[in-house]
This record gives sequence, C-alpha cells and structure tokens, in this order.
Amino acid sequence: MSSAIYDFFVFPAKASARYTRMSKENRSEKVNSAIIGLLALFMAPVASQPEGTPEALAKPHDFVDLVTYCDSCHGTDGISVIPDVPIIGGFSEEGFLNTIDAYRDGERVAIEYHNPGEPETVMNDIAKALTDEEVSALAKYYSERKFKPAYQPADPEKARRGAILHKQSCERCHSENGTEAVEDSTILAGQWMPYLRRQFDNILSKKRQVPRSMYRRVKKLSPQDIDELLHFYALEGDKIHGPPSESGEL
Ligand code: HEC
Ligand code: HEC
Repeated sequence: MSSAIYDFFVFPAKASARYTRMSKENRSEKVNSAIIGLLALFMAPVASQPEGTPEALAKPHDFVDLVTYCDSCHGTDGISVIPDVPIIGGFSEEGFLNTIDAYRDGERVAIEYHNPGEPETVMNDIAKALTDEEVSALAKYYSERKFKPAYQPADPEKARRGAILHKQSCERCHSENGTEAVEDSTILAGQWMPYLRRQFDNILSKKRQVPRSMYRRVKKLSPQDIDELLHFYALEGDKIHGPPSESGEL
C-alpha cells in the first residue's frame, strides 16, 4: 500500500478509543457521521455491494466508523468479552489477513451473530464488504492492539494433560504454548473456549480448512484430548498475558 493511503487509514485509528467514552463532543461527532453515512447511503451505487452486506458497511465509510463497527462485537481494541466472539486485538497482520481471506473465499464458515436490536450477520458477508485497502489497514490496526486473555475458569488437571498434547503436536506452529501471534497463525492461549471449541468442530467437519499437517494432527485427537487442550490454552492465557481483561470479569 502506498504510504499516503496508509497514513489516511492509520491516522484516525486512535480516535476509536474516544468513541467509547462518548463525551458531548463525540456524540455530535457521531451524529454528524451518521448523517453523512445516511447521505452516502442514498448516493452509493447499491448494485456494487455484494448480497448480504451489513447496512453498517454500506460504502463509503471512514476508518473510525469501521473500527467502531468491528469493536461493537469484538470489543474495545478487539478484546471481546463475548465467549462466542473471538478476541482479535494483538493478532499478527498475516494471521488476520489470512482469516479474512478464508471468510471471503468460503474456506471458512462463520456463525450468524448479532448484537441486541441489530440484524443477524456473518463474518463471511462482513469480510466480503471490505475493500483490500480496508482489510490491510484493519490488519495493521488490530496487530498494534495488545492481546488480553479472556477471563474464564479452567481445570489445571486437564490443562496439565493438554500441555503434553500441545507439545507433541501443536507447538511446532502455535509456538510458545499458543501465545505467539507469529506469521499466519492466530493466538490460542487466552482465546475464548466456546469460540475455540466451535472451531475444532468446524475443522473436523471440514467446514473450515486449515493447513493439511494441522488437520492430520487434529483428526487424531479424541473429544477428551480437545477438551484438555482447551483448558490448557485457557490457563496459559492467564499465565502469560498478565491479569485477565477487566471487562471480562463482569
Ligand atoms: C455482528 C458481530 C460482528 C461484527 C460487527 C464483526 N465481527 Fe468479526 N467475528 C464475529 C464472530 C461471531 C466471529 C466468529 C465466527 C466464526 O468463525 O464462527 C468473528 C470472527 C472474526 C475473525 C476471526 C478471528 C479468529 O480467531 O480467527 C476476524 C479476524 C474478525 N472477525 C474480524 C472482524 C473485523 C475486521 C470486523 C469489522 C470490519 C468484524 N470482525 C466485525 C462477529 C463480528
Ligand atoms: C503446520 C502448522 C500447524 C500445526 C502443526 C497446527 N496448527 Fe493449528 N493452525 C495453523 C494455522 C496456520 C492456523 C490459522 C489459519 C487457518 O485458519 O488456516 C491454525 C489455526 C488453529 C485453530 C483456530 C484458531 C482460531 O483463532 O480460530 C485452532 C483451534 C488450532 N489451530 C489448533 C491446533 C491444535 C490443537 C494443533 C495440534 C493438535 C494444531 N493447531 C497444529 C497451523 C498449525
């Protein structure tokens, strides 16, 4: 991406934090942008939007609005407090890009999800509604947030057995006990258990494609093995990333 475009996208990134506080000034800012959004909606060439495009992503929209939209489900700075929605803050850029590509290409299916009072939507439609420039800017933005583990109870005995399994078959790619956001892999340690459990189901039923050498290993796991790995990742998140996210303690 050219540096001019890059600056344009990255410059307002910090502003998203202001949104959550909602001072009077921000409220009017938000109202203004809603009006602009509405005008844009009337002027936008509707035909260019893929089917199922969430209304919030009707173009054109600016980067701050985009981040506010993502964070409405994924949490402030991408630190989700919803067990069904993954934490994405602190992912590697490549891991993030990979995931969005997989949703776009249908290599990966997502559950339907909605916030109260809003229509159901799926990550596949959201991913398709983004331009490549937006995806790159979002990948950079979320890679610069700090990953915070989900606050969730885990069984140390199961985790102990999960640690052995992890070392044997998973550490090679999910390094440092699944805590590292390296290259194309995402963070497992501290990710929400219900979300990860669903990913195992998707991988085993081939609704989600993963590298073949990972699939070969996952296929050999029993349901009990998977359970032990999930407890291991939950506990490892607490250990390595410091105290659990405050909002997760609600
Ligand atoms: C309506 C709620 C909602 C919104 C809005 C939303 N997401 Fe998601 N996102 C989800 C859910 C639910 C999942 C998990 C889906 C699944 O695979 O079952 C997900 C998954 C993801 C993942 C995969 C994480 C992983 O661990 O592999 C990424 C990356 C992501 N979203 C990025 C974004 C971005 C960027 C935006 C804004 C453009 C966004 N999301 C907006 C609900 C949402
Ligand atoms: C050859 C490298 C490799 C090995 C070995 C491997 N993985 Fe993965 N894993 C990946 C990559 C790359 C991704 C993410 C990208 C994707 O969806 O294709 C991933 C994704 C995952 C995810 C989904 C994470 C998310 O955020 O949705 C889980 C869960 C997972 N791996 C568990 C395991 C477990 C458990 C093992 C060991 C039994 C294992 N992996 C072994 C490379 C590997």
